Amino acid sequence: MTRASVVGTGMTTFGVHESSLPELFATAALSAYDDAGVDPADIDAFYFGNAMGGQTENDTHLAPTLATEVGLAGVPAQRFEDACATSANAFKNAVQAVEAGIHDTVLVGGVERCTPETGKGTGEMTRIFASASHRQYEQPTGLTFPGVFALLTKRHMHEYGTTEEQLAHVAVKNHGNGTRNPRAHFGSETTVEEVLDSPVVADPFHLMDCCPFSDGAAAVVVTSDDSAASFDDPVDVTGVGHATDLVPLGLKPTLHATQAARDAAAQAYEQAGVTADEIDFAEVHDCFTGAEVLASEAIGFFEDGQGGPAAEAGRTALDGDRPINPSGGLKAKGHPIGATGVAQIVELTEQLRGEAGDRQLDDPQRGLAHNLGGDAGTTVISIMEARA
Ligand code: COA
Repeated sequence: MTRASVVGTGMTTFGVHESSLPELFATAALSAYDDAGVDPADIDAFYFGNAMGGQTENDTHLAPTLATEVGLAGVPAQRFEDACATSANAFKNAVQAVEAGIHDTVLVGGVERCTPETGKGTGEMTRIFASASHRQYEQPTGLTFPGVFALLTKRHMHEYGTTEEQLAHVAVKNHGNGTRNPRAHFGSETTVEEVLDSPVVADPFHLMDCCPFSDGAAAVVVTSDDSAASFDDPVDVTGVGHATDLVPLGLKPTLHATQAARDAAAQAYEQAGVTADEIDFAEVHDCFTGAEVLASEAIGFFEDGQGGPAAEAGRTALDGDRPINPSGGLKAKGHPIGATGVAQIVELTEQLRGEAGDRQLDDPQRGLAHNLGGDAGTTVISIMEARA
């Protein structure tokens, strides 16, 4: 089986954009072509993520539309939808298609518009996002995503004594990293006091524990091991994992364990032939600060119950022993749903190439991306390595 490698990346800033969805996506895709040094004629297939376009854009057949926009009319183009894990799922399928020899060179990307520029405010976007929860058992209760992750986090606090201060440290660290990322939605530092004094959204989360609604797009060019040798600085994908958990929340035996993440991580570690101790850094799905704590344990960076103390002790900072979310994460970089998974792959690639600017880690060799969807019903994990 051949291996897949990332040979080019492109990304818009995350934040508020006036551009249309196709314009946003084209900006990211053309910059990925440029970075890889490829033409559309070199691309064999297009794997694409968008979660909410049916509701936000009134557009349900986006793959061929966007293929046309980026010069790929004619190639097979498919859209993936997996809530917040949408474009990680597109990436996983592209990697597996390359590994299987079905395609040689693939454009993978994701795009979403979630800010009031779509004509929809916080209330309407919250309703649209909540359509990714269980139709019969969760939506009728009024449960929305801040509430979903508040439930998981409250259980973690109950089991292990995790505190609101520890959660606030996650926000402080990610906002700090975001100030070093020119593409981040938020470019300002925050403090523990500011987080704890911000309005409560869903206990234990304050406004500053939450990711924002963002617009943005990200894209990467994936190619086979053989072809990658002719590119500058390919970064190899050595493991992918994808698992689901029981949905709705009420069926899960433990709310805080995020079992899909544990299962997907086990698959990815096995394929890559490494353990969590051999991963130098991770980009994880910190849609809320508590989600980062849960993720840091699910991927095996810390023992269960130690994610909160580790965040408070600075172990997940850029200069800590287990850096998490050097990009600023969803919390500060932003969260345009369908673009988030591929944006994590962009960050892994830039860090492993040594191209991450002010937020560059010290010579990382191996990184992991954790992208979670819905009420923790899906997780996709990818492991990437610098080429020796
Ligand atoms: N973090 C930090 N600051 C934020 C913020 C966030 N998540 N969201 C908004 N702000 C800031 C705005 O920039 C604005 O600042 P300004 O007054 O200096 O301009 C201020 O807070 C008010 O912004 P507004 O858009 O009116 O906030 P809101 O109350 O309508 O929405 C949240 C805030 C947290 C409720 C909303 O961002 C949210 O629901 N986030 C979670 C999205 C989500 O569930 N995603 C899916 C995850 S699985």
